[in-house]
Amino acid sequence: MKFQGSQNYVATQDLMLAVNAAITLKRPLLVKGEPGTGKTMLAEEVAQALGIPLLQWHIKSTTKAQQGLYEYDAVSRLRDSQLADVEGSERVKNIHNYIVKGVLWQAFTADQPMALLIDEIDKADIEFPNDLLRELDRMEFYVYETRELVKARHRPLVFITSNNEKELPDAFLRRCFFHYIKFPDADTMRLIIDVHFPGLKKDLLTAAMKTFYDVRNLPGLKKKPSTSELLDWLKLLVAEDIPLEALQSKDEKVSVPPLVGALLKNEQDVTLFEKLVFMQRHNR
Ligand SMILES: Nc1ncnc2c1ncn2[C@@H]1O[C@H](COP(=O)(O)OP(=O)(O)O)[C@@H](O)[C@H]1O
Ligand SMILES: [Mg+2]
Repeated sequence: MKFQGSQNYVATQDLMLAVNAAITLKRPLLVKGEPGTGKTMLAEEVAQALGIPLLQWHIKSTTKAQQGLYEYDAVSRLRDSQLADVEGSERVKNIHNYIVKGVLWQAFTADQPMALLIDEIDKADIEFPNDLLRELDRMEFYVYETRELVKARHRPLVFITSNNEKELPDAFLRRCFFHYIKFPDADTMRLIIDVHFPGLKKDLLTAAMKTFYDVRNLPGLKKKPSTSELLDWLKLLVAEDIPLEALQSKDEKVSVPPLVGALLKNEQDVTLFEKLVFMQRHNR
């Protein structure tokens, strides 16, 4: 199994190396990076390129590690026991009917090797990564209710993403291969745009990229726009048929770009940008 990038996804050399290193080491690949830099999509693309199914587990602040293993549905069992006819009472007797399998269980017991995405692990509470250490390391866990040990038939290829909202525990980090997706440089960005908008007019692309990096490099922004925002914005520029002149002012000065709401997502940032434009206009 080796990942060599895909048609829909631009993977830099070091990203491909990282994916293959994780495969070789049989360790989870921990991918960090700004939101919108293609972390989630990476897992989807690698799984597709390697031809293995992907199970996705999107983490929320309330997600518990146990939910990835299994949950015992005691409430349904109680209800069934109260309503049960003869057939139903057979069902109630068997506790297996009330064990709900989580993604790890599914990945461990599938007929073929699987890929597993644990998306945005930093959303969960501090204990979450620690609670999964042993399961991800040994690839097994014990089900107390049924007294069975669930062992992985095939070791799944695990992707873990983080937007860096929280630090992860050292013991957890030790077990992962780590990669930080750097914000794409201009050349990589051009390749990414080409994947999404093949045949975009060259001068529109150049002007839009310049505006985008100008906005992004503005010091003091609360939320820098990222790849996915640039792609949204380009989509709008094309759909609304925005003329090139709207992006370029002849005197090389910055101006507030059209549809700026696709790039800047809070009022302080927009104000900051307008101030900068205002100052430039009045200095020269
Ligand atoms: N390297 C890339 N190649 C192609 N498209 C990309 C790439 N990086 C980001 N994108 C685009 O940006 C969008 C957001 O990516 P996503 O994986 O959701 O980011 P993240 O999970 O890091 O927040 C994707 O749907 C894709 O359209
Ligand atoms: Mg994501």
